[in-house]
Amino acid sequence: MSTTILGISAQYHDAAAALVRDGVVIAAASEERFSRLKHDASIPVRAARWCLEHAGITMDEVDHVVFYEKPLKKFERLIVSQILHFPKSFKAFQRSSMLWLTDKLWVRNALVKKLDVHPDKLLWSEHHLSHAASAFYGSAHKEAAILTVDGVGEWASTELWKGGPDGIKPLFQIDFPHSIGLVYSAFTAFLGFRVNNGEYKVMGMAAYGDPIFEEQVRKVIWPEEDGSFSVDTRYLCYHYSATDSTTDAFEELFGEPRYPGSNFDPTTPEGKRFADIASSIQKVTEDCLVGLANRLHRETGLEHLCLAGGVALNSVANTEILNRTPYKTLSIHPAAGDAGGAVGAALWAWNEVLGLPRNQEISRPGLGRSWSNAEVAEMLGDLKITATDLGDELAATAAADIAAGKVIGWFQGGFEWGPRALGHRSILANPRDPDMQDRVNEKVKFRERFRPFAPSVQAGAEGRYFEIPEGSEQPIRWMLMVVPVKEDQRDAMPAITHIDGTARIHVVDEAANPRYHALLTELGKKTGHPIVLNTSFNLKGEPIVGSPVSALATFMRCGIDVLYLDTFRIDKSDMRGLDRVSD
Ligand SMILES: [Fe+2]
Repeated sequence: MSTTILGISAQYHDAAAALVRDGVVIAAASEERFSRLKHDASIPVRAARWCLEHAGITMDEVDHVVFYEKPLKKFERLIVSQILHFPKSFKAFQRSSMLWLTDKLWVRNALVKKLDVHPDKLLWSEHHLSHAASAFYGSAHKEAAILTVDGVGEWASTELWKGGPDGIKPLFQIDFPHSIGLVYSAFTAFLGFRVNNGEYKVMGMAAYGDPIFEEQVRKVIWPEEDGSFSVDTRYLCYHYSATDSTTDAFEELFGEPRYPGSNFDPTTPEGKRFADIASSIQKVTEDCLVGLANRLHRETGLEHLCLAGGVALNSVANTEILNRTPYKTLSIHPAAGDAGGAVGAALWAWNEVLGLPRNQEISRPGLGRSWSNAEVAEMLGDLKITATDLGDELAATAAADIAAGKVIGWFQGGFEWGPRALGHRSILANPRDPDMQDRVNEKVKFRERFRPFAPSVQAGAEGRYFEIPEGSEQPIRWMLMVVPVKEDQRDAMPAITHIDGTARIHVVDEAANPRYHALLTELGKKTGHPIVLNTSFNLKGEPIVGSPVSALATFMRCGIDVLYLDTFRIDKSDMRGLDRVSD
């Protein structure tokens, strides 16, 4: 008989549910893909319901439901840090105690009520243990060093672990308010972006600058000789303020903050200052992470490093970690942020609470809900949309559209696990078209012009275009590393080459995504280049589309030329009368 475990993460940001059956992650989904609220943190009722539907079971048949952290411990940290900073913390205390005493503290009741789960089935992991389990038990390695780095969990913001046949053992931890994630977020806010959302924009902005503020950043956060790091909290106020992250002393170091939403032009002195600050915090972040990873290597002597926690989504830093440490390979959980805690909590329970044998690594991105060809056909019929069912001609036709300069919406199979679009809910275009970056930015994504797009390249062809570091096989399949574009290719692929000559690469293998792989094969035949510009299928500020209806609604509101819904091709000109579609 099968054993089934449901993992849940919720109540901070990026709530998610994941189902592990017989040690294999068979379904995993973020709540935002169902609710259409970006970073939805509420108890993931819809995601959990879908996971059970997918497995064809009811909650009664689930053996355990595991929450990814311990809410009481988190509340303790909140109370202690706010008492320590009273009266400065008074406003934050008022706000957070309202939230916690009315809602967050009662997770047990909420899970029992909203998910209809029997209280005896509930298990509680810990925040960083869930991250560590997602990285290690989701990897192919039987033994590995594990580094988890994020804003903060219960108390820990950073933890070093050793994973092996006896489980995951903690080696060292750094506690709140010392936090790489929170300091990076403080700079994110200072640079005019939204915390927990705009961190990757800081990473993109950094490429336009030079780290000339490194000395100032090192007053705020610095790597220690022993491989740990420290934070000077005089510059920061995230530990007692509900609204701000930085103090006046911070502004004395860096000057005026950037106004949110203002135009970023790196050719102006002001724009260059912001880019230089971004470059400096990026550089010091990398130095701290490399220090931690090297310490972990000294302590474990292991060849493989597994990473998770929100900071592991910093794909520029990930490349630095691999290049500047002795590890042979790097492996990163694809949903490295808090959504991934759902998978980690379930895998922890499987391996360490139940003590059952490990199963396969997570290798398939489309772990979310899918719609069958018949369901898509029925929806198109109901909406009276003219569409052509291409059947086996899908890949060749889509490749012809891309080669002809069209921007296509590509909706196939289950939606992706993690924040990246990996060929299941993607917008695709020809990366060799010199106008394509501006076109996709302005007509499709409506986002900042300075941010680069990512390429998807067929497995085996990546070496033609990019300098691939040894040991990066897993992260490059999940778009978690930034690598140099070969010098002779940069001018030919302006849409996916960032200002510093790099790209956030996604390598597509046939087993993980056969349809996307077939598309790249056809594109290779037509253009000589099995590579495509791949950006997530969503508009600015919205979650990536989940359902065919969301895909249609997004298609209607932007400049995508053609939509591929499963094997159906829908031309924009065939969308007569579709103004009533909304998601
Ligand atoms: Fe986290």
